Amino acid sequence: MQYDFESGEYSAEQRAYAARVYNILSDKRSEKCKALVVTFGCQQNVSDSQRIRGMLSLMGYDFTEKAEEADFIIFNTCAVREHAEDRVFGNVGAVKKYKKQRKGMIIAVCGCMAQQDRIIEKFKTSYPYVDIVFGTGVSDRLPEFVYKKLTGSKRIFENELSNASVKEGVPINRDDKIKGFVPVMYGCDNFCTYCIVPYVRGRERSRKPEEIIKEVTDMVNSGYKEVMLLGQNVNSYGKGLKEDINFAKLLRMVNDIPGDFRIRFMTSHPKDCTKELLLAMSECEKVERHLHLPVQSGSDRILKIMNRKYTAKDYLSLIKTARELMPDISFTSDIIVGFPGETFEDYLLTEELVKEVEYSSLFTFIYSKRNGTPAATMPDPVSRAEKGKWFSRLLAVQDEIGLRLEKNKIGKTLRVLIESENDGELVGKAADMSDVTTYGDPSLVGTFCDVKITAYDRGLTGEIIKK
Ligand code: 5AD
Ligand code: SF4
Repeated sequence: MQYDFESGEYSAEQRAYAARVYNILSDKRSEKCKALVVTFGCQQNVSDSQRIRGMLSLMGYDFTEKAEEADFIIFNTCAVREHAEDRVFGNVGAVKKYKKQRKGMIIAVCGCMAQQDRIIEKFKTSYPYVDIVFGTGVSDRLPEFVYKKLTGSKRIFENELSNASVKEGVPINRDDKIKGFVPVMYGCDNFCTYCIVPYVRGRERSRKPEEIIKEVTDMVNSGYKEVMLLGQNVNSYGKGLKEDINFAKLLRMVNDIPGDFRIRFMTSHPKDCTKELLLAMSECEKVERHLHLPVQSGSDRILKIMNRKYTAKDYLSLIKTARELMPDISFTSDIIVGFPGETFEDYLLTEELVKEVEYSSLFTFIYSKRNGTPAATMPDPVSRAEKGKWFSRLLAVQDEIGLRLEKNKIGKTLRVLIESENDGELVGKAADMSDVTTYGDPSLVGTFCDVKITAYDRGLTGEIIKK
């Protein structure tokens, strides 16, 4: 397959479509048309939705949170588990009534679900009031789709993926002024056997380093205090680029951008998490001492069938190296319980690993069958009820660990980015993502404070000792 790795300005063609939409909408009405963007799934989708909002702003839309007053509703969907898909169908079903009441309302569905032929078919046949369905590979063409729909086109279905290139310059409309996502790479080449992502997001492709540096620099100059570098597998950043670069080098470049801000990144695949990266992390003062390192399972047998390409021992030695370099580092992880063929003994190995690592928190999922992935055809004899018991057991194990780690922080001083204020109460996040509540002037929102932790009661509280 041929990919276009060249990035360029957001296409003049799409800007022209946006301008035409703008003119059509302003001719139609005195007040601005309103759009509602509903986002499901991961941070990548949240980031994509900010670009969708950016394109909608360019077309002249304002935004609303109320479906009943929207002229354009778009659902940015997630396909990673069945539950996420069911929620999308439920939500799309629920807006049908508004379309009857509001003449000319356009309903669109995009994102990972919409990338799949099977789902496109379902929208075609069972959701006749959905006007536009398009996949992740063509998301920058939203202005064109809206223009065509407004000028009398029938329903639009587009899910071309093979030429999905990195499109630079798509306008961004971020809702947060303190923290922001910056995608560094798109797609995934890992093909873990349970995962739909490589099929719906396509092959790995990286943004050019200068584009990333420019975006972060602009954010920092306009007051952002935290950037989260995003990718399905940030550690394979740079593959296919002409430059001699990898994620460790990129991290150092971002760290060199002047300004008082912090850097986070996700997601790291353990098989690609190198000593070079951990070293870069430890030497970059702006990079938070937190690593999201999904292990998925603690059983080597299951890891092998999952195609994860590491063993529990490899994983633990990575954790050890990271702790040697950064004694205060915290870890979070994703875990799948009940992968096809997993036994209770396999599950117990996961539990053992969780106890050994001591994660600050965990994202735990019961395996969900995804059609088209290798795991979907593997025998899966364990009942849902049994898997549910293992799942609850793991949650209880993690709750105990998480609580212990939180209580250990009493008496310590944490650097907290204050994110919101309510009645004199300030809430922010520490390096390991834990919420910290403190008290002070609302002007401290958007600043870093050193907070001495005094108590734990369903969350950490503390006193500001240095602003
Ligand atoms: N079933 C359950 N969880 C899954 N994940 C990915 N695919 C599946 C699936 N089929 C989880 C993995 C991944 C996280 C984003 O979602 O743990 O790391
Ligand atoms: Fe899915 Fe594995 Fe790629 Fe993560 S690394 S997106 S789990 S295939």
